[in-house]
Amino acid sequence: MNTPVDAPKGNLIARMRPLWPYFGAYPGTWAIVVLGAIVGAATEPMIPALLKPLLDQGFQQRSLELWTVPVVLLALFGVRGLAGYVAQIGLSRITNHGLMIMRRAMFNKLLVAHMQLFADKTSSALSNSIVYETQNGASMLVNSLLSLTRNALTLAALTGYLFYLNWKLTLIVIAVFPAVAWVMRVLTARLHRLTKANQDATDNLAYVVEENVLAHRDIRLYSAQASQAERFDRLGDSLRNLAMKSTVAGAAMTPMTQMLAAMALSAVISVALVQSATADTSVGGFVAFVTAMLMIIAPIRQLSEVSSPITRGLAALERGLELIDDIPHETQGTFSKPRATGEIQFLEVVVQYGAVESAPVINSLSLCVHSGETIALVGASGAGKSTLVNLLPRFVDIRSGQILLDGHPISEWDLQSLRAQFAYVSQHVIMLNDTIAANVALGMNLERDKVLACLQAANLGALVRDMPQGIDTVVGHNAMQLSGGQRQRLAIARALYKDAPILILDEATSALDTESERAVQDALQGLMHNRTTLVIAHRLSTVMHASRIVTMEAGQIVEVGTHQDLIQRNGHYARLYHLGLGATAAPEA
Ligand SMILES: Nc1ncnc2c1ncn2[C@@H]1O[C@H](COP(=O)(O)OP(=O)(O)O)[C@@H](O)[C@H]1O
Ligand SMILES: [Mg+2]
Repeated sequence: MNTPVDAPKGNLIARMRPLWPYFGAYPGTWAIVVLGAIVGAATEPMIPALLKPLLDQGFQQRSLELWTVPVVLLALFGVRGLAGYVAQIGLSRITNHGLMIMRRAMFNKLLVAHMQLFADKTSSALSNSIVYETQNGASMLVNSLLSLTRNALTLAALTGYLFYLNWKLTLIVIAVFPAVAWVMRVLTARLHRLTKANQDATDNLAYVVEENVLAHRDIRLYSAQASQAERFDRLGDSLRNLAMKSTVAGAAMTPMTQMLAAMALSAVISVALVQSATADTSVGGFVAFVTAMLMIIAPIRQLSEVSSPITRGLAALERGLELIDDIPHETQGTFSKPRATGEIQFLEVVVQYGAVESAPVINSLSLCVHSGETIALVGASGAGKSTLVNLLPRFVDIRSGQILLDGHPISEWDLQSLRAQFAYVSQHVIMLNDTIAANVALGMNLERDKVLACLQAANLGALVRDMPQGIDTVVGHNAMQLSGGQRQRLAIARALYKDAPILILDEATSALDTESERAVQDALQGLMHNRTTLVIAHRLSTVMHASRIVTMEAGQIVEVGTHQDLIQRNGHYARLYHLGLGATAAPEA
């Protein structure tokens, strides 16, 4: 939540314009809010204005009707209160509605953004900007804009009233303005810097807590408590130090402005006493003047503080707009097909993560996979097997070359249609915090019988039967209460449910023990039947069933053939085989 303070300056109005589509949905409400602010400001000078007749007529001449006092006071505060109430509700309506549609736009962008976004931004940074930053930014900006309007109007109304009462005295008061403004500017700037440093320090402190919660086992196992406690203390101490500095700067504000006010007041009183000799001022007029003069301090003070929340709020919302407007969508074509035959061709494919000059992870790779064929990919960890299969649903983009599905370059496919062709089980299973049934039928119509059949096939039937709510059991954060093997079988059930023409298994049984693997193997075998399958295997049993085995090394294919062929050739595959396939292609980073 570090809202940068030194965001690009520039015309505030111009910077606010892009926000209007979100916060300008209710122009009528805006009008009411502004009207409320005007009425509120206009009632301000009426308080000192009431003192004048009260003192002059009520106390000195005794000519004031008694009933007028409560009537006027209640009417004044009634109008004032009503205006404030309506303005606040209106503003809340504008802010919350704008916030809702802005968040919705950000979340929708998250769903279709180019995958690079997730490489560039951490999940906590993204959730922070969608959930908290927009909230803070919007309330900061809208509230400070209202405060700006209200205080500027109040200042104008009070100053106008002062001039009306006694323009000579007002000129004396105005002479003090620059000094007050200067004191406030200096102190506010210092406070602002301290606030920023304070936010950073708070973030750092929170980060230490987060890390220690995450790594609580390791910290105990390696006896790192003392160093962690020291780390926390150091940050805690700097936070305390900054908080004290803020208090010192903040506490000076009030007495210093009051001293300046006292200077103005003594000048005003002296002049007024001199003037009273010439009967220029009445007692009531004098009291009204002094009251209005003291009342003017509050709006000046608030105006001097309003610029920082405006800048900070604007900067936070601009970051949200950046996500909505500047992050590119995934590119796609228009070709679509309900069900592909599953013929895949890789032609001279090159893949690089990151910079153009970095070493290619897939290097000029060509491979043709026929419809219904099962291809096993083997090779050492880091050979590029996962990268190769991730190219198909376009989770990773190619640098050059071409990939065809059913004879059409995958970049020309409509993304939804393209991705409908693949079921994918990887070694990193991610489950949503929803029911088992919803996880299995993810994105599709939920048919309970089909869910049960798929769970049964994935060897999860017994587990689900033992659960109190069966397939309606909520699995928790990433299904953490299930074991690794159970999660993987759940992912297999999901793949079975999707029934897509092409199946990708990236070490899909890595988390299973031999026993459960044997049980799931049947399910997988059934799943592969009549489907194009790319399987990255770590166990021989899967590999031996493949139509062809593709051996990869450093992003290139070094051998292709059946198990028998490749053993006879006594090359890379034979070496991997003798080392024990599992050990070389076991779960990797
Ligand atoms: N998201 C990524 N960003 C950068 N480099 C990556 C990324 N994913 C994989 N790599 C690199 O690409 C190479 C191939 O990785 P991978 O395809 O996962 O290999 P395999 O699945 O064969 O073990 C490795 O050197 C790995 O470090
Ligand atoms: Mg891999």
